[in-house]
Amino acid sequence: MLTSKEIRNQFIEFFKSKDHRAVPSAPVIPHGDPTLLFTNAGMNQFKDVFLGQGNRDYTRAVDTQKCIRVSGKHNDLEEVGVDTYHHTFFEMLGNWSFGDYYKEEAIAWAWELMTDVWGLPKDRLFASVFRDDDEAFQIWTKYLPEDRILKCGEKDNFWEMGDTGPCGPCSELHYDGTPDKSGRELVNADDPRVIEIWNLVFIQYNRNEKGELENLKNTHVDTGMGLERIVRVLQGKDSNYDTDIFMPLIDKISALSGIKYEHSEAGKTDIAMRVIADHIRTLAFSIADGAIPGNEGRGYVLRRILRRAARFSRELGFRKPVLFELVSVLVQNMGDFFQEIKENQDLITKIIKAEEESFLQTLDQGLIKFEELAANSGNVISGDDAFLLYDSFGFPLDLTELIARDKGMTVDTDGFEKNMQEQKDRSRSSRKNVSQQADSDNYDFDSEFIGYTALESESTVLYVEDNIIILDKTPFYVESGGQISDTGIIRIEGKEYKVTGVKKSGNALLHFIEGDTNGSMIGKRATATIDKQRRRNIMRNHSATHLLHEALKRVLGTHIQQQGSLVAPDYLRFDYNHFEKMTPEQMIEIEELVNNKILEAHKVETLVMSLEEAQNKDGLKMYFGDKYGETVRAVIMDDNYSQELCGGTHVGNTSEIGFVKITSESSIASGIRRIEAITGSSIPKHIRKLESEIVKEKEREANLLDQIKRLEKEISELKTKELSSGLSDISSESIEINGISVVAKRIEAENMDQLRDLGDELRKGFKAKGIGLLGTIVDDKVQLVCVVSDDIKNDYPAGKIVGQAAKFLGGGGGGKPHLATAGGKDITKLDELLETEFVNIVASFNN
Ligand code: ALA
Repeated sequence: MLTSKEIRNQFIEFFKSKDHRAVPSAPVIPHGDPTLLFTNAGMNQFKDVFLGQGNRDYTRAVDTQKCIRVSGKHNDLEEVGVDTYHHTFFEMLGNWSFGDYYKEEAIAWAWELMTDVWGLPKDRLFASVFRDDDEAFQIWTKYLPEDRILKCGEKDNFWEMGDTGPCGPCSELHYDGTPDKSGRELVNADDPRVIEIWNLVFIQYNRNEKGELENLKNTHVDTGMGLERIVRVLQGKDSNYDTDIFMPLIDKISALSGIKYEHSEAGKTDIAMRVIADHIRTLAFSIADGAIPGNEGRGYVLRRILRRAARFSRELGFRKPVLFELVSVLVQNMGDFFQEIKENQDLITKIIKAEEESFLQTLDQGLIKFEELAANSGNVISGDDAFLLYDSFGFPLDLTELIARDKGMTVDTDGFEKNMQEQKDRSRSSRKNVSQQADSDNYDFDSEFIGYTALESESTVLYVEDNIIILDKTPFYVESGGQISDTGIIRIEGKEYKVTGVKKSGNALLHFIEGDTNGSMIGKRATATIDKQRRRNIMRNHSATHLLHEALKRVLGTHIQQQGSLVAPDYLRFDYNHFEKMTPEQMIEIEELVNNKILEAHKVETLVMSLEEAQNKDGLKMYFGDKYGETVRAVIMDDNYSQELCGGTHVGNTSEIGFVKITSESSIASGIRRIEAITGSSIPKHIRKLESEIVKEKEREANLLDQIKRLEKEISELKTKELSSGLSDISSESIEINGISVVAKRIEAENMDQLRDLGDELRKGFKAKGIGLLGTIVDDKVQLVCVVSDDIKNDYPAGKIVGQAAKFLGGGGGGKPHLATAGGKDITKLDELLETEFVNIVASFNN
C-alpha cells in the first residue's frame, strides 16, 4: 500500500517530469493579504500572477499547499468530524500553468496520473464540466464515454477564490466508491461514497469589487487535489480518517482515553475523535505560521476551533487538557515535510495547552449553565442566553449552536448578534471623548492634514460653530492607529483659541476649542500651531512602538502580532499575543535591540505605495481587518529592519527617540500581554524619580540602622543592669583567703565592654580587700575580667592575676592593678578555673 508520503511525492514528481517547478507551500496565514483570514486554496500565493501584477521565473509549478477552510466563502467547519471527508486543515496538491498550457494538457495529465501512474479503474471515474464549457467536454470525450461526463452549474463548476479575485470554469474528477459502480447520481451530491478528488480550474476572469467578471490578459490553470481524499482512495479506505494521515492521531486519542475507535460514521465517540484529529492540525499549522488564539479575526477563529475540540474531548471523558498531547504525534507524522511544525513544536504545545487550560476552567460551569438555560427554553436558545454563555463562559456562538444541535435545539443567532452589537456600542460610548461630541457626518468640508512635516500652518477658516473650527489645512493629528490627537492653539485676528480635541468627519477635520468661537470667522486667516513639545514626544513614542514591535517578534517569536496600542506624549502602551510573561533576560534583550537601533541613528522613511505593492512586500506589517485604501503609507526604519503600514507621525531619525525603557509588563486577557514603555524626555524624569526613591530608601535604611544601634545599646545597658544586680549578693559566694574575699563567677556577658562594666560593678561592691574574677564565653572564646580593691592592688595586681588565669586557659592578657582583662581559648577549662584554680592563683601571690 502506498503511504501518504509516497503519494504526495509521486504527485510532485509526476509534474516535475512535465517541466513543472516544485515550489514550497505558502504559509497558512496569508500575512500580506488583508482580504483573507487563512490560506484557503493553492492559488492564493499566485493571485498576483493570475491578475498580471506579479511574475515568477517559471510558467509551470507544482506544490502541496496547506489550506484552512473555516470561514468566508469556503467554510467546511460544520461538516468536519461529522462526515469522513471534510477537514478544517488539508493539503491541496496542485499543478499550475501561468499563461502556459491550458485545458488540453491539464486534462490529459490529470488522466495520465490517475489511470496510468496510480492505476485507478476508469469505470470508477466521472468528470464534470461547467455547463457552457464545450471545449472541456470535448477534451474529456477522448478519455471517457459521454455518459460519464456531467455538465454542472456555477455552484460546482465555476470556481472563485472569494468575493473578489481570479476565477473561472472548472472541471472536476470524481471517484465512485459504490460497490456496484452505480454512483453516477451521487456526483456532487455530498455523498461520501462518490467524492470529488481533483478540481481543474481554468482561470480566465477576475471578479472585481463591483462583482463583475473582467477578462484576464492570459489564461491559466489552477488545479487542486485533496491529498487526504486521494490517499483514502489509493489506500482503499472508506474514510479519510482511516488513512495513515489521521490514524496515528486517532490511535493516540484512543490510547489516552481508553476508548476504541470503531470506524463508524455516526458513533458519538468516533465523531469526537475525528474532530480532535482534524482540529489539532489546523491549530498546530496556524500557530507554526504565526497565528495565535485570541479575541479577534483569525485569532478568534482559532480559539473557536480549539474550544470546539476541547468540548468534544469531554465526549471521550477527558477533564484535563489533552489536545496538546497530540502535537508530538503530528510532528512525527508530518514534521519531516513541513519543518515549521517541528521547529515550533514547543511553542505550539505550550500555546495549545495554555489555551485549553484557560477554557476548561469555565467549561464545566458553562455546560451547567447551558443545561439550566435549555431547561427553560423550549426548542430555541435565546440570543440573550447565547450571549450570556459567550460573555461569561467563553462559549463562541458556534459552540453553543453545536451543543444545542446535540439536544435537537437551535439558537437565535440574530438575537445573539444584536447583543454583540449593543456591547460594542456600550464600550464605544464609554470611550467617548467629551470634546468630541459632534455628530460626525454633518460636515461637508475638505481639510488637508499637513502635520507629517509641519507643526504649524497658515490656514483659512472654512467653518465655525459653537466650539468647533474647521480649517482648509491643519497640522493637528486626529487620533488614529493608537496615536492620540494633538492639542495646541489656533490664532484668528489676534485672538487665541485653545484646541483640546480634534476629530475627523468625512473629509473635514474638526478642532474643538475651549469656550466658544465668536461671530463669523469664515474666510479669515488662521494660524494653527500644535503643542510641539507634546507632539515630539508622541512621535518618539510612536517610532519606538514600531521598533519594540519588531524586537518582540525577534525575541519572543514571529507569532507576535499587535493587539492594540496607545501612543501618548508621556508613554506608550503595546498589547500583543503571547502565552507567558517575558523573562527579565528577554526584556533586556528587547530593550537592547531597540536602543541599539536608536544609538545607530537610522533614517525613518515613509513610502506611499499601492495596496498591491504593499501586499507583495516581504516583512511589511499590516493588520487584518484594517481597511486600507488603494494607496497606503509604509513607515520604514533602518532599510527594511522595521516596516509597518501606518498613518501616524514619526521622528525623522531613530536617534531622536533618545532611549527606550520598558516600565511594565502584564497580562490583560488570556494570551494577551501588555507592555508600557517610555522614551525621550520621560527617561531623565524616570531616572530622577528612581534616584530620589533610592535616596529616600537609603535615608530610611540609615534611620533604621540608628534605631537598631540605639536599641542595642539600650538592651545592653538593661542587660548590664540585670547582671550587675545579680552581682550585689555575690559576696555571699566569696571565700576568704588570707583575709581577702575572693570571688570567681561565670556570667553571661555579651562582649568585653559589658564584662568590664560588670567588673567595675563588682569592684564597687567590695568593702575592703576583695579580688574578683568574672568569666564569660563570647564567640567560642573565654573572656575574663579581674578586679582588685584599692587597698591590696599593689600586692595583688589584677593585671598579673588575670594573666595567670588566662594562661590556664591557653591565652593571655593583662592591664591595670585594679582592673584587667584577658582572653583564653580553652573554654572547657573555664569552670575549673573559676571553681578551684583561681583560688590557687590568688594564694600564690601571697609569697
Ligand atoms: N483553486 C481550486 C480549488 O481550490 C483548485 O478547489
